[in-house]
Amino acid sequence: MHVLVTGGAGFIGSHVVDALLSRGHTVAVLDSLAARVHPERAWPDIPPGVRRVRGDVTERDDWLVALEGADAVVHLAAYQDYQADFSRFALVNDAGTALLYELLVERSQPIRRVVVASSQAVYGEGAYRCPDHGRQYPPPRSLEQLACGAWDPACPVCGAPLEPTASSEQHPAPTNAYGISKLATESYALTLGARHGLPTSALRFSIIQGPRQSPANAYSGVLRAFVGHIRHGRRPVVYEDGRQRRDYTHIRDAVTAVELVLEHPDAVGQAFNVGSGQVTTVLEYANAVLSAMGVAAEPDVSGRYRLGDTRHVWSDTARIRALGWRPTRTLHEIIRDYLDWAAGAPEGEDWTAAALARMEASGVVRQIAQVD
Ligand SMILES: NC(=O)c1ccc[n+]([C@@H]2O[C@H](COP(=O)([O-])OP(=O)(O)OC[C@H]3O[C@@H](n4cnc5c(N)ncnc54)[C@H](O)[C@@H]3O)[C@@H](O)[C@H]2O)c1
Repeated sequence: MHVLVTGGAGFIGSHVVDALLSRGHTVAVLDSLAARVHPERAWPDIPPGVRRVRGDVTERDDWLVALEGADAVVHLAAYQDYQADFSRFALVNDAGTALLYELLVERSQPIRRVVVASSQAVYGEGAYRCPDHGRQYPPPRSLEQLACGAWDPACPVCGAPLEPTASSEQHPAPTNAYGISKLATESYALTLGARHGLPTSALRFSIIQGPRQSPANAYSGVLRAFVGHIRHGRRPVVYEDGRQRRDYTHIRDAVTAVELVLEHPDAVGQAFNVGSGQVTTVLEYANAVLSAMGVAAEPDVSGRYRLGDTRHVWSDTARIRALGWRPTRTLHEIIRDYLDWAAGAPEGEDWTAAALARMEASGVVRQIAQVD
């Protein structure tokens, strides 16, 4: 296949490019070299033979150049942030995806598969079980609740404590602008793909971690944030009480999911969760990173919280497992592989502190009144 990878200069994209080349595909990359990810605004190492198009997924002419000759698209370019610029998520992630389909239809371009990147963020606060009222998908925790550090959502019916469970694909309920934009991305892609005969799949990635995750983009990506703090002599900052449950997934497992849905006939028309299935709290993760870096310190759990964060979320991966996908890497391997890579990639500026300061100044990261 001739595959166009948007966001191919980024973290997941660069690994996808390598994997596609090793399977004998021809690859082109469309990437704007966004300043947040590439502060030098320069191409990272891209393997020879890959056609590079510097352009923006919101620009029709850039798509037209990049799509030339492509018979498959892996659409990964996206705006990801924790700022209050809500319209930008819609502009880049949703208008960008709609424009892709608009052009494919307009040009009657024969396409064998489109894969779009979605996110676990579509699950909002996550899925829970109430002893009396069964499955619950609570609304966003209120500002008042967060301000007094009552972290766990309660049953929306009776107010009882809830037991977190894995999120399956059936019930997305995003609670921040990024999650909303990702659900809309999927809707455009799967609906327009089905309507116009453009076979499409969506992947709802959990938290993907590994080498090449730009340390400059310190607004998200918990591992790079922990490592950034520790490298600059601080304790890793943990939001809420650190007991949030997550599933962290190795980049290699994310890439095998892309490879699978790009070719599997039964993947068409569906969204798939991609997650390790290994449930870890944020605090456990911070401690594992400290230990792997040989630093004897406690994580900084000082009552900060981030608006729009999910309390507990991890993915039920039965749907993609039914196609033969399996996660293969452990949390230990995620941390080790990232640290091995980071050792050869000097931290440079203190991106993590700058990102935290900006999020605090804009009110995205807040502090509870009192810490117990
Ligand atoms: N990394 C994760 O944990 C994770 C989790 C869930 C979903 N995702 C999704 O996976 C995809 C890839 O994420 P990533 O972690 O590799 O991100 P990344 O920031 O490392 O890479 C994104 C790339 O897209 C490019 N880009 C950004 N805006 C663009 C635009 N308007 N036009 C063209 N290129 C643009 C950037 O320059 C960058 O090279 C995204 O869609 C993201 O929402 C990632």
